[in-house]
Amino acid sequence: MLANKLALITGSGSGIGLSVAQHFAKQGARLALVDLTPNVVEVGKQLEQQTKVFTSRCDISESGQVNKLFEEIQQAFPDLKAPNVIVNCAGITRDSMFLKMKEEDFDQVIKVNLKGTYLVSQAAARSIIQNNPKNSGGSIINFASIVGKLGNLGQANYTASKAGVEGLTRTIARELGKHNIRCNAILPGFIKTPMTDKVPDKYLELIVGQIPLGRMGSPDDIAQLATFLASDNSSYITGASIECTGGLSF
Ligand code: CAA
Repeated sequence: MLANKLALITGSGSGIGLSVAQHFAKQGARLALVDLTPNVVEVGKQLEQQTKVFTSRCDISESGQVNKLFEEIQQAFPDLKAPNVIVNCAGITRDSMFLKMKEEDFDQVIKVNLKGTYLVSQAAARSIIQNNPKNSGGSIINFASIVGKLGNLGQANYTASKAGVEGLTRTIARELGKHNIRCNAILPGFIKTPMTDKVPDKYLELIVGQIPLGRMGSPDDIAQLATFLASDNSSYITGASIECTGGLSF
């Protein structure tokens, strides 16, 4: 399904990003894996048994590092030069109630989740346009969140960043459609990952009580959707925000 793809996946050292990398490898994509956590190197080594993999510990919130990343990817995949699938999965939380939230925690979450998505998407789009004269285009998949729509206690910074990612996604879709670059947002609900492991059980129980399907999601549930958006099966979908939440919404 993804045999002709070179996929850049940020946040692929754990959680949803890791699952996306495993699904993409199974579908034949070549991979550029990025994460700050050292575990990404281990993930890369494992997936190398299935496909060609490049790994980097680039900080996606720093433009200099992002530009260098794209140069390194060009060198690692000289036949393709530019990733034609980009999954912006890297994200962090710094939860605290709004009245207690520290300015540095607000800034850091916006810097990684929103600015990081902007920097990687911009560098990726420039690289696609420069290296694909036949307008072969690409698919950018951004990770927003259902809580960007609903709000969530203790997450003023995170919900603001994820609502921002949705707006960014729709603008990229409008501007880059003429280059055959699609851009969509996935809005996960509460998924079992190291991120939700940090939430006290008493709150998770309250949240699961509001989910029509009665369970948290798995990273697999999300990776299936990302695989569809990366593939040519979704070639007429752009600017969409797709919820994958077990029904959790207003
Ligand atoms: N549901 C109901 N009430 C909640 C609540 C929730 N989810 N979260 C907090 N509260 C209530 C508490 O019961 C408490 O009420 P009282 O003052 O009446 O006792 C009040 O809000 C303050 O909460 P805490 O006592 O827990 O405050 P704290 O300062 O000790 O901790 C916190 C704050 C770290 C934000 C903690 O409340 C917390 O971890 N909340 C959960 C945050 C959360 O849901 N994060 C999601 C992470 S997963 C993710 O982000 C992925 C995604 O895309 C969804």
